[in-house]
Amino acid sequence: MQLVRLGPGGSLLLLALLAALTGPCVSRSDAPRGVANPFVFDPKAKCEPSCKHSGICIRNNTCFCMRGYEGETCQYANCFPKCKNGGQCLRPGKCGCPAGFGGKYCHKVTCEEGCWNGGECKALHGKATCLCLSSWTGNKCQEAVCPQGCRNGGSCVAPGICSCPDGWVGGACHTAVCSQPCLSGGKCISPEKCRCRPSHEGPHCEKKRSQYHYLYKVKGY
Ligand SMILES: *[C@@H]1O[C@H](CO)[C@@H](O)[C@H](O)[C@H]1NC(C)=O
Repeated sequence: MQLVRLGPGGSLLLLALLAALTGPCVSRSDAPRGVANPFVFDPKAKCEPSCKHSGICIRNNTCFCMRGYEGETCQYANCFPKCKNGGQCLRPGKCGCPAGFGGKYCHKVTCEEGCWNGGECKALHGKATCLCLSSWTGNKCQEAVCPQGCRNGGSCVAPGICSCPDGWVGGACHTAVCSQPCLSGGKCISPEKCRCRPSHEGPHCEKKRSQYHYLYKVKGY
């Protein structure tokens, strides 16, 4: 029997190899791996660099890896299922997850501050990200969207709704308020400010300009 030919030390080693083999030795990672079949075994074999994680040097520069490790020198732990979302396999079956990911395989996504207003936490380009409904934006979907814009210092307080500062009204805070109307065809252009036709002047365009001023203004004489 082969065990006998190897001598006492060798048989122990072979027993160790057999023990290691009893677990499934299939590597499912893309990383390069050591050989799976230890039976072509050279007791004088040298491996440089040496086999890591208790791997056994079975032929020159060929490591036989213990269960849970793989790579040319058994340098990589292997995790199955593989670590998701950029997680790193730290020890056999133990993934280290990047921020925003958790669970045994880093398969769970967590947006730390949550996603508001119906937003959903998803992995996007390797980051946990809130995907917002169209009427909300911001990293937590906390900001309402007003497609019409809020002008003159107004702020968007709910989807499509602007809160306007004093003196402004309208869906986009685009209409100025003049508490007294602008007369004679004048227009209220900002709060309490009328722009008068050339023929009139005064805070509310209530005064008629003289003929001279009128012509001067219109024709540039
Ligand atoms: C393994 O390497 C040693 C020295 O590096 C060499 O003497 C030996 O012949 C090699 N064994 C085989 C099987 O190639």
